[in-house]
Amino acid sequence: MCSNNKELPIIESEGRRSFFSQCASAMVGLTVIGTIAPVLQGCSDSSSPTAPNGPAQITADVSSLTADNMAVVVGDQGTDGQNVLVVRKTATTYLVLSMQCTHDNCQVGAPSSSGIMTCPCHGSKFDITGAVKQGPASSPLGQYTSTFDDTTKMLTIKFR
Ligand code: FES
Repeated sequence: MCSNNKELPIIESEGRRSFFSQCASAMVGLTVIGTIAPVLQGCSDSSSPTAPNGPAQITADVSSLTADNMAVVVGDQGTDGQNVLVVRKTATTYLVLSMQCTHDNCQVGAPSSSGIMTCPCHGSKFDITGAVKQGPASSPLGQYTSTFDDTTKMLTIKFR
């Protein structure tokens, strides 16, 4: 495990509009690929889950996420033993990413103000859609499925 980040406001200053515009475009694409699998597998041999005995699902309060504060690191660990990142796509739809790097399973850092997550082990970079922006990783971050309850504003994240 490389880091243990907590809640964060990811967008702070200049370039925000451009960044959001890019993210919105990327997330349109993610709605298509988001149903492919609960967890995308990495490219290394050790990409199988390492914490299979954790909870099957958790609930997270996502009421603090807004268009200007799009992402939060949830300390609960997914089936791969890493934290998860919840990204607000709209007021009622969310993307849940594993923070396990797909190169060799280190935990990526929280998103920077420009929305880039950097792996401390070998420098791979991912955007908040999970897409690889710089290798050596070649596969996107894994995803978990989730269900949002608009009444309680709670997001149920399914690990399996
Ligand atoms: Fe992340 Fe190698 S484990 S770049």
